Amino acid sequence: MAYRITLIPGDGIGPEITKATARVLQHAGVEIEWDVQEAGVAALTKFHDPLPQSVIDSIAQNKVALKGPLTTPVGKGFRSVNVALRKEFELYVNQRPAKTFKGIKTLYFDHIDLMIFRENLEEFYSGIEHYIDSSRSAAETIGIITKRGSERIIRYAFEYARKHGRKKITLVHKANILKYTGGLFLDVGSEIAKEYPDVKFDDKIVDNMAMQMVMNPYQFDVIVTTNLFGDILSDLASGLVGGLGLAPGANIGDGAAIFEAVHGSAPDIAGLGVANPCAILLASVMMLDYLGEAEAAKKIEAAIAKVIEEEKFVTKDINPVNPVSTVEMTDEIIRQLDKLG
Ligand code: NAI
Ligand code: MG
Repeated sequence: MAYRITLIPGDGIGPEITKATARVLQHAGVEIEWDVQEAGVAALTKFHDPLPQSVIDSIAQNKVALKGPLTTPVGKGFRSVNVALRKEFELYVNQRPAKTFKGIKTLYFDHIDLMIFRENLEEFYSGIEHYIDSSRSAAETIGIITKRGSERIIRYAFEYARKHGRKKITLVHKANILKYTGGLFLDVGSEIAKEYPDVKFDDKIVDNMAMQMVMNPYQFDVIVTTNLFGDILSDLASGLVGGLGLAPGANIGDGAAIFEAVHGSAPDIAGLGVANPCAILLASVMMLDYLGEAEAAKKIEAAIAKVIEEEKFVTKDINPVNPVSTVEMTDEIIRQLDKLG
């Protein structure tokens, strides 16, 4: 069966790494018809709109999208298209694994296997903010946390843990200071945990959590947290396994899902042909799993693992001494994939 999937090449390194991904998927034996759509700065330049209606219509129709990173201007300009898409399709789950591949020399830890679930719609990403006086000397951001929003992400994390034989969930918060919002999230978590006696549950205050993840990440298994903390801790977790070039993510709702890398458009290396394609490739592996194409997903992951382990054809974020280009690393992944048959 052929899948029709929305492909957003994205900004910066996006076109390079999504092209690599489409090539790899073509060799994995899954028939995909890509519905290519521009968003972000690319769309702003072409259509004067960072999120054209055609992108929304395409995802609404296809229900699944693979998305390159989109540039969001800092402190000014248009609002995040990523956030807008998550809201549009009510993608309340942001699932971000951090797993070590063998062969990366720069790591302090050699077998990390963390799964982070980040609440994806509420709190400080609501976009409700303004200056509170005309001289613009003070600004306010409103972060709302609801019982329903908390319940559904926390329950998703528990269901995931149970289904995948995960032992423990750590809920991360700042309920000592954010007594109402953080407190609500923690209370909801503690209640839901009672329904899952087979999964251990504990909680950590976010600042301590950041330190603990760096000192002893092995004590954690599945992590569930609010939007901003999840954003920050998932970049931190990627640092434990070799950096953003290896960190995939999925935005999942009840009716649609958008798969992407954790990283952004990496303007510092855009166009140089040196970006690591693996983060978005691993996001496409999550996408195949979501579609029920477990075999193809496993094969691509195995091919990536082999290439990383052999070290000869990896980009400079993994091997700064003797790196290859995005295209060369992709070629090698495809060679390994073809070998797997
Ligand atoms: P970034 O994630 O783009 O880059 C951070 C650092 O990691 C840079 O040094 C970059 O070169 C490196 N890096 C990222 N991906 C890499 C890859 N595949 N291979 C090798 N190195 C890689 O974060 P930054 O610079 O803070 O943000 C740039 C833009 O991306 C901003 O406009 C931001 O809003 C946007 N962004 C978009 C996201 C999305 O579309 N989901 C997520 C995060 C940021
Ligand atoms: Mg981020």
